[in-house]
Amino acid sequence: MNTDSPNPDLLRPMPQRIDETARQLLAGDKGLLAIDESTSTCNRRLAAAGITADAQTRWAYRDMLIATPGLGDSISGAILYDESIRASTADGRRFVDVLVAAGIIPGIKVDTGTTDLAGHPGERVTEGLDGLRGRLQEYRALGARFAKWRAVLAIKAPGGMPAGARRPPRLPSRGCVAANAQALARYAALCQEAGLVSIVEPEVLMDGDHGLAECGAVTEEVLHAVFDHMHVQGVALEAMLLKTNMVLPGTDCSAPASPAEVAAATIEGLRRAVPAAVPGIVFLSGGQSATQASARLNAMHAGDRGAAPPLPWTLSFSYGRALQEPALGIWHGDASRRGAAQAALLHRARCNRAACSGSYDAAMEAA
Ligand code: 13P
Repeated sequence: MNTDSPNPDLLRPMPQRIDETARQLLAGDKGLLAIDESTSTCNRRLAAAGITADAQTRWAYRDMLIATPGLGDSISGAILYDESIRASTADGRRFVDVLVAAGIIPGIKVDTGTTDLAGHPGERVTEGLDGLRGRLQEYRALGARFAKWRAVLAIKAPGGMPAGARRPPRLPSRGCVAANAQALARYAALCQEAGLVSIVEPEVLMDGDHGLAECGAVTEEVLHAVFDHMHVQGVALEAMLLKTNMVLPGTDCSAPASPAEVAAATIEGLRRAVPAAVPGIVFLSGGQSATQASARLNAMHAGDRGAAPPLPWTLSFSYGRALQEPALGIWHGDASRRGAAQAALLHRARCNRAACSGSYDAAMEAA
């Protein structure tokens, strides 16, 4: 008997089934807005844009984003951070309530960031499991209906034997993949217990000179490990979304790939590694430009797959930088540019919604 099978009762602990929330997040060609930057990452992005990085500007920036008129027409869910799920607008409305009123489901990043993985020089493991059960309950009470946990995996060429290492390097190592996959699975099981959809995010980073094929092989290996651990931990796949990288050539690779090539390589890897019970896969942007992220997602929906069977899961977006960057550049901390910045965010959201039906066109950028 397989005692690792998910307990079906865990899908029904709340007024709304968790798997229904997962499907709502994927409905109508909409996608997710990731505004879950930690305080240090948000400060870094503000400073890089030449904006004073402090609590007041973080609040003003996020207040501008979540209040964008019409955002709910293209965005189904927004991922918040601990600081912003507790925040309110100047007139006293909680950010969470503003989102819900706009038809956007609030979510929350619950990992506490990455740290060096012992015995694996150059590799990181994501932390945050200690006390997570209690934090999930608190976030649910604050209005979150889904959560996110991100693991990062770097592709690096084997080098020499580093001092202190017990085996030759090959990154990502089996140890790094297994440690992160197990943490993702334990996080997902805790979310399910708490009545929250889990967004399970293993990100194979773009940095490096690796080609498209190597990114595809590593992504596939990572996803196999993640779903193996999810099975061992008894996670109901119907109650989660996978958030992952597209299969891309590294940023220092000399062989560029067209949107059609990226789409084909990404779908090939996902078909091999992601079970059909998973309702949806949402992509992170990972450092792609805003327009690249739209064009490549569009190619996945517009591609002529010939005799290939239909995709078993919905493919959508959960972009951070690729949705926010144009708005951040326009806003620049200036209240008088709030409306123009919101228009830029709304435009990117609409472009990506169009990409989810294969109807995005570069001409949309000129409009
Ligand atoms: P990017 O789209 O900027 O990669 O951010 C998505 C995200 O949620 C990273 O964890």
